[in-house]
Amino acid sequence: MFVTFEGIEGSGKSTQIKLLEQKLVATGLSVLLTREPGGTPIGDQIRQVLLDAKNKAMVPECELLLYYAARAQHIQQKVKPACDQGQVVLCDRFVDATMAYQGAARGLQSQFLTQLNDYVLNGFHADLTLLFDLPVEVGLSRAKKRADQLEESQKEDRFEQEAVDFHHKVRQAYLDLAKNNPNRFEIVNADQSVEDLQKQVFKIVSERLGL
Ligand code: TMP
Repeated sequence: MFVTFEGIEGSGKSTQIKLLEQKLVATGLSVLLTREPGGTPIGDQIRQVLLDAKNKAMVPECELLLYYAARAQHIQQKVKPACDQGQVVLCDRFVDATMAYQGAARGLQSQFLTQLNDYVLNGFHADLTLLFDLPVEVGLSRAKKRADQLEESQKEDRFEQEAVDFHHKVRQAYLDLAKNNPNRFEIVNADQSVEDLQKQVFKIVSERLGL
């Protein structure tokens, strides 16, 4: 089972994915927790380039192809082998992030994104996608608080520096993707306590896994 976590900045998905991993491992399942961009040594190097706030000159086409370069490596080296071995794979962001950020927010043509998907994924897709939805202002203020606590060298904020309008487009695109793929998506209200959210996430995933 391949489960992806999506949401705007500050939606709490990275905290929730770790909590879910712990709960699933405690039930005896073999779990792989991974993320995009990243998840492999090569992907992590690409991640640094993508998120480096100094790379303001990066054009949308370069950005898109770097996400797909990292994704190709990640799927072949890590995700598919884990799925083949029967592991539950939990991935912090995947293709829907590209549709929302590079497609809707950056304005790249969805037809071209679909072609890249066919080329890189060859039909491979998530079984379940959890969308952590909350108002943009709430998410951005959480993300800002988190960034303020980090050392300068740990900050990965090229996207967090985008205008509020950019993040509204991302949120709307995610909601549209969920509407158009109702069997794969579950929308969770991310504007609630970590504990309540965790219970809801575990309930959704355990039902799908038949636990
Ligand atoms: P993260 O903060 O959830 O780790 O994600 C890193 C950033 O990369 C986040 O701002 C969203 C962005 N992103 C895209 O723009 N396109 C993609 O395909 C992915 C996977 C992430």
